[in-house]
Amino acid sequence: MKLIKGKPIAEAVYAECTRELEELKAAGHLPGLAVVLVGDDPASQAYVGSKERKCKELGFHSVKIEKSASISQDELLQVIDDLNADDSIHGILVQLPLPGDLDEQSVIHRIDPKKDVDGLHPANIAKLAMDEKDGFAPCTPSGCQRMLIEEGIETSGKNVVIIGRSLLVGKTLALLMMGKGPGGNATVTVAHSRTKDLAKVCREADILVAAIGMPHFVGPDHVKDGAVVIDVGINRIEDAEAAKGYRLVGDVDFDAVAERCSAITPVPGGVGVMTIAMLMANTVRACKLRHGLL
Ligand code: GUN
Repeated sequence: MKLIKGKPIAEAVYAECTRELEELKAAGHLPGLAVVLVGDDPASQAYVGSKERKCKELGFHSVKIEKSASISQDELLQVIDDLNADDSIHGILVQLPLPGDLDEQSVIHRIDPKKDVDGLHPANIAKLAMDEKDGFAPCTPSGCQRMLIEEGIETSGKNVVIIGRSLLVGKTLALLMMGKGPGGNATVTVAHSRTKDLAKVCREADILVAAIGMPHFVGPDHVKDGAVVIDVGINRIEDAEAAKGYRLVGDVDFDAVAERCSAITPVPGGVGVMTIAMLMANTVRACKLRHGLL
């Protein structure tokens, strides 16, 4: 069994970003990313903090906008309008989920598609569905695909089963992997909470992707011998012995499943690490696109 770690693959993506950053700087441009955080959800705060840190580490222009959960829909849309109009910003990410009654859909619709480095605007989803390569694909599915490509795992003609139909991961990863090109050309099944005989469906998978947000959901019954397992879950579970009172586990029961797999991603240290790397890569791309360098 091979452990597919995210870090070395993410480092390769960062090395590419650094090289491209130097080229952009030489041409007088600096990639800028704005991350918008609404409310005080601890997991969202942690994700946004990591994104901001990585931006600074790479030397990007970085803006973090924090708003209280009591912000009105119109005020939030105004924040987006201001970022759309700000020439120093090439990428905008609104951390999801939004708290309370805020309408995520209208916020996402408001982001300029050319700054939508999260790849969630309908224009970018359409480009993904139409196999047009000049849009932005969402970061977590792109990260999963990049891991498979870098590990030399063949996807063409393979059975891929994705558990979870979210736009953020399941649905968009399906579009990526059924698309043409490296990491694509797969036969994709998207399973979800209403799928009958889920374990049986999963056992058909050459590549099984778990993206449901349920700790240790995937067990040995779901995995055929020799399958590749990609675990997208990042779940906090209580752990009195951990310094923070919790630890992170995936959607896959790693210890029970690992020996069956030909390759598997760990949590933490797997897909999660890739998400931020792909966000940085998308931000560089947004900057290049804006300045006609792609
Ligand atoms: N929340 C969890 N993952 C993501 C992501 O990739 N993008 C955004 N905007 N919010 C998230």
